[in-house]
Amino acid sequence: MDELTNDIFRSAELVVSGDKLVTPQGVRSGHLLIAAGRVLGVCDTDLALPSAERINAGDAYVLPGLIDSHVHFRTPGLTHKEDWEHGSRAAVAGGVTTVLDMPNTVPPTLTEQAVREKAALVAGRSLVDYGFHIGVDPEHPGLLASLDPAIARSAKIFMAGHHTAPTVLREPGQLEAAFAAAAEGGVQLVLHAEDDSLFALLDGWWGEPGSYAEYEARRPRSGGIAAVAKVIELVRRHGTRAHILHLSSREEADLVCAAQAAGLPVSFEVTGHHLSFTDEDTRRLGARTRLSPAIRSRGDQSRLWEAVEAGQPATVGSDHAPHTVEEKTRGVQQSPPGLPGVQELAVAVWTGMRERLPEEHPDRSAERLARLLTSGPAELFGLTGKGRIEAGADADLAFLAPDDTWMLSAGDVRSKCGWSAYEGWTMTGRVVRTVRAGRVVWDAGSESFGEPDGRWLTPADKQGGH
Ligand code: DOR
Ligand code: ZN
Repeated sequence: MDELTNDIFRSAELVVSGDKLVTPQGVRSGHLLIAAGRVLGVCDTDLALPSAERINAGDAYVLPGLIDSHVHFRTPGLTHKEDWEHGSRAAVAGGVTTVLDMPNTVPPTLTEQAVREKAALVAGRSLVDYGFHIGVDPEHPGLLASLDPAIARSAKIFMAGHHTAPTVLREPGQLEAAFAAAAEGGVQLVLHAEDDSLFALLDGWWGEPGSYAEYEARRPRSGGIAAVAKVIELVRRHGTRAHILHLSSREEADLVCAAQAAGLPVSFEVTGHHLSFTDEDTRRLGARTRLSPAIRSRGDQSRLWEAVEAGQPATVGSDHAPHTVEEKTRGVQQSPPGLPGVQELAVAVWTGMRERLPEEHPDRSAERLARLLTSGPAELFGLTGKGRIEAGADADLAFLAPDDTWMLSAGDVRSKCGWSAYEGWTMTGRVVRTVRAGRVVWDAGSESFGEPDGRWLTPADKQGGH
């Protein structure tokens, strides 16, 4: 190591030492040196000044801070369900240091001005860094052609409606215009791809569901399959980049993989809850696992796990969508779809991986987790400085104790809604500490949080840094 490098390393303010640092080159032991919120580098010898703060990770995996590219933190207008303070506490308690928030708020975030207003509400309240998906206005889909990339990472389209999805692109002309405008503006689309017209027919014929099994029958897999096929056709015609959210069935996964293999710029997300639950759980859990798209069969769940094993999803997201206990006990038709999940995401996926891949070396599982929850979303959404532990990156870290087993209870829940569909689950793995910008924002031992000074990630960061 030359003198200059030596000097840089000696400027470290924080040193994280551990046996299992998850770097782009794989899991390694070493010392991670940090200053001014950034990673200086990883080295074998401890070169830092004695005055540097120290954290010994022991045999916990030190992952890049996790990125949840699909949360509903309910600001503005739905803060009785969740607010940014609680949502971001739940995030860091789950190892998440960056979130991308959805636009189905009240009012919905459909304009650049609305995004700026939301950012102003969040400033000074967030333990995590954040960005926003802007909503596509059904009346003005053409706005996407001139969307300022400093304002929104991508644009969200709801193809089907429900309680918290008021702005739906139902007309073929609206979708066509949105895909054309997004292609022109170089905007990444993220889509809730279900066929609203099919659901409307079923609701009209069959009336209100009396049970969750009947709800699922009114929101069948064919709705997702038809909509995904439509998205793929629109991508083929316009060349638009499209990321399909919360993919729920075997056929949808097969379709998107086939389209990708044919060279189309289409990708998909799998959620923690579609990996964790099946329709059998909904018989027991009722409204808690009432979701849109619905939770499907064990066969579908297996196909989603196969996708995870094969590295097919570009992202794994939580679709953190809290509702109050009162809202969730209103009965089948009135109870809104959605569950909190940003806190549970990484441990639920880790638990599933260890159960399903017991033969796999845990280091390989940790690398897989890092791809799906850090580098994958960072690359898809252009989050510079995120998703990799390497020199120059933001010093965001999640410490996962891999063998800690514990039972999740309502008392662990940090979301404002105060409940979790995972209550009673025995989890494998615990997030013991979370660091953002070189400072501890969650410490499980003392159950304490850091400063709510997360920043709005706009592409302006790419030029100027912090
Ligand atoms: O289950 C869901 N809940 N699916 C969505 O698409 C939206 C979300 C919410 O906002 O509650
Ligand atoms: Zn969502």
